[in-house]
Amino acid sequence: MRLMTIAAVLAFAVSPAMAQNYPDRPITVVVPFAAGGPTDTIARITAASMQKSLGQQIIIENAVGAGGTIGSARVARAAPDGYTLLIHHVGLSTAATLYRKLPYDTKTAFVPLGLVTESPQTIIARPDFGPNTLKELIEYIKANKEKVSYAHAGLGAASQLCGMLIQTALQTQVTTVPYKGNGPIMNDLLGKQVDMTCDQATNTTGPITSKQVKAYAVTTKTRMSTFPDLPTADEAGLPGFEISVWHGVYAPKGTPPEIVKKLSDAIVAAMKDPELAKRFRDITTEPVAPERATPQVHEKMLISEIDRWAPIIKAAGQYAD
Ligand code: MLT
Repeated sequence: MRLMTIAAVLAFAVSPAMAQNYPDRPITVVVPFAAGGPTDTIARITAASMQKSLGQQIIIENAVGAGGTIGSARVARAAPDGYTLLIHHVGLSTAATLYRKLPYDTKTAFVPLGLVTESPQTIIARPDFGPNTLKELIEYIKANKEKVSYAHAGLGAASQLCGMLIQTALQTQVTTVPYKGNGPIMNDLLGKQVDMTCDQATNTTGPITSKQVKAYAVTTKTRMSTFPDLPTADEAGLPGFEISVWHGVYAPKGTPPEIVKKLSDAIVAAMKDPELAKRFRDITTEPVAPERATPQVHEKMLISEIDRWAPIIKAAGQYAD
């Protein structure tokens, strides 16, 4: 057993020469949600820019399921050689409490490499759903909880966090329908197979503009400049409601500092890349300031978000196990 452990460590060991030549082959970035959703889109835009400075191709792998924890576990147990990375959002911090048993310790299993962007969610519904304002939606949910279906991307998804906060605020429970990501959820909302969800603005701006979905509110404390008439949840009927979906890139624990630095520098360069900024603006978000795209700021954010959400989730009593 001991010999096996030593062999495993040796198999994972990265020599100084390997670190120096890094990267000399394609890098995989694991997206823990389905293709066509907000995390996938942000990953693809970020990867396209990072590969310019890294000089290597970045392949996106959607390892989906269990609210993002399957993809996260895949990276937590990957060789810490810089060739398998994770992009994840606020859900990495909420899953740390939602799941009492995870195959990794969220606070220590990853090396945060840098934040990339932060966006509001929008509370949305199928286009023919009855309520027209957030106040009407709240009344409708209270009166028809057994009829309302709320789609989310699994326990640990940002959409699940938002749904949990709405239900906690209204002290009610609707029917929740789990998916593998907001990509498939959007298809089913457009197809009128589910009633409502919260989805990141990066994924909903098009469908809201074309009135393919009905929008009630944004989840941040400030309105979006794209939709100045769309109220915040806080001002429209859910006082104190606030979620911002921040995304960052991670390497497995044990990744050598030289490789961490190369990756972090590539993220900082991506945040300064006008092409990335344009593609982010096209989906109504923006790159974080370069000083926030660093391991130090990202690590603080992860730890403080784990600590921020833990008591809220415990009070809601929602656990995945
Ligand atoms: C996705 O990319 O599908 C989302 O980030 C899922 C979610 O967290 O709601």
